[in-house]
Amino acid sequence: MLFKSVYYRELYNIRIVRMTKIKNICCIGAGYVGGPTMAVIAHKCPDIKVTIVDLNAERIAAWNDEDVNNIPIYEPGLSDIVASARGRNLFFSTDVEKAIDEADMIFISVNTPTKTYGVGKGMAADLKYIELCARQIASVAKNDKIVVEKSTLPVRTAEAIKSILDNTGNGAKFQILSNPEFLAEGTAVEDLLRPDRVLIGGDTDEDGKEAINALVEVYANWIPGEKILTTNVWSSELSKLTANAFLAQRVSSINAMSELCEKTGADVNEVAKAIGMDSRIGSKFLKSSVGFGGSCFQKDILNLVYIAKSYGLDEVADYWEQVIIMNDHQKQRFASKVVKTLYNTVSGKKITFLGWAFKKDTNDTRESAAIYVADSLLNEQANITVYDPKVSETVIYRDLDYLESRKPEENRTGLEVANDAYEACRDAHAIAVLTEWDEFKTYDWQKIYDNMKKPAFVFDGRNILDGEKLEKIGFIFQGIGK
Ligand SMILES: NC(=O)c1ccc[n+]([C@@H]2O[C@H](COP(=O)([O-])OP(=O)(O)OC[C@H]3O[C@@H](n4cnc5c(N)ncnc54)[C@H](O)[C@@H]3O)[C@@H](O)[C@H]2O)c1
Repeated sequence: MLFKSVYYRELYNIRIVRMTKIKNICCIGAGYVGGPTMAVIAHKCPDIKVTIVDLNAERIAAWNDEDVNNIPIYEPGLSDIVASARGRNLFFSTDVEKAIDEADMIFISVNTPTKTYGVGKGMAADLKYIELCARQIASVAKNDKIVVEKSTLPVRTAEAIKSILDNTGNGAKFQILSNPEFLAEGTAVEDLLRPDRVLIGGDTDEDGKEAINALVEVYANWIPGEKILTTNVWSSELSKLTANAFLAQRVSSINAMSELCEKTGADVNEVAKAIGMDSRIGSKFLKSSVGFGGSCFQKDILNLVYIAKSYGLDEVADYWEQVIIMNDHQKQRFASKVVKTLYNTVSGKKITFLGWAFKKDTNDTRESAAIYVADSLLNEQANITVYDPKVSETVIYRDLDYLESRKPEENRTGLEVANDAYEACRDAHAIAVLTEWDEFKTYDWQKIYDNMKKPAFVFDGRNILDGEKLEKIGFIFQGIGK
């Protein structure tokens, strides 16, 4: 059967059936998106050869590590998926040109960070990695290819990619599709196996429809047709930025209410439950916390703000920028609360951080709230000890050094990293929970209390601990929004 997706066929009312059957996929970028996404495609489509390439040889070596538990990205279930396909139809390589040459379909899944220089500095997406990929594809490709934007990109980037491909190539024809990724770190495998939807944007002419269908056919191997949405390219590109803006806005909205709860005696969990039962609002993503992190929300909203400004839409830009302002405030507010509660000084006091990752079940720390809270408390001369079950000492120091707030030696004097949570908490004046790892809930809190300085404080930046139980033990407990 050529068109499995009835939805697609109806949407475009296709009568002439032209079919590109994808046999060979290349993905440029073996990161948090490229790695898991392609591993799942390879797992579900044994007839397609999938090669993931990256310039970072160390990362590729880790993906190829004999012990599949050493792959560079921690996600529940990912190592099993990789083990099922690696060496069969899933390959990791640094030979970018060979993989491009052999592929019928090329996913671009490289990083698109916020620009740190020039026009748009601090707001616009830096598209230099995307452009490099486009130029490399153009120079290598000898036959027609479908190029898929998997990275999150500003609306109308496909136009730029097409222009580079058409003007620098060797006569090969290219179709550009937008296929943004909606996975959430920590649940990436589950999200990829059972996504809410897959979005594919492409040109609306016959060639565009054929390219869209080729990608629909790949996903149709495991995703029901009604969940595969096809749109024009611009809608697809903008939908990803919009989705992240809406998700982050919910977090900032409930965080704004958490501060009001603290002043009024309301409890933010109760408020969230009460409003979440309204089906128009819904209960998900209403958890108040020390603030959202991760590589995407902030960068994508800043990008949205920049795009809105560049079209002269200042009110639209200001509206979305407030989501970031609120998030920064929430992180700062948490650090200030620690200082204020510890009798207005943390100088020389030991504060233990439980968690450094930006959320549970990932080893990703990009833009983690912990980094900024640590930075504020180090400015107040606190002695910080960090324990995180999945984040290494190297990464923690790299995150802090990146801020350039003080000399690297000072970061190493002010902050140490522990391998054991109980040792990390020994002799601490206070504990701050910065990541919602499940294991923190199951600790022997009496034992932790017994080994701490008194009075012993716990600041639960994720509202995961049983505050009443901790208070009975003797802790002075503070959650968010209570
Ligand atoms: N992380 C997420 O949860 C998430 C979710 C959805 C979408 N996204 C988007 O996906 C994109 C990738 O994000 P990520 O988190 O996987 O980034 P990442 O930094 O983990 O991975 C990107 C990889 O691309 C490689 N790379 C860069 N330029 C290259 C080139 N020219 N050739 C070969 N390799 C190159 C880098 O070495 C790096 O390993 C971003 O646009 C991001 O916004 C991320």
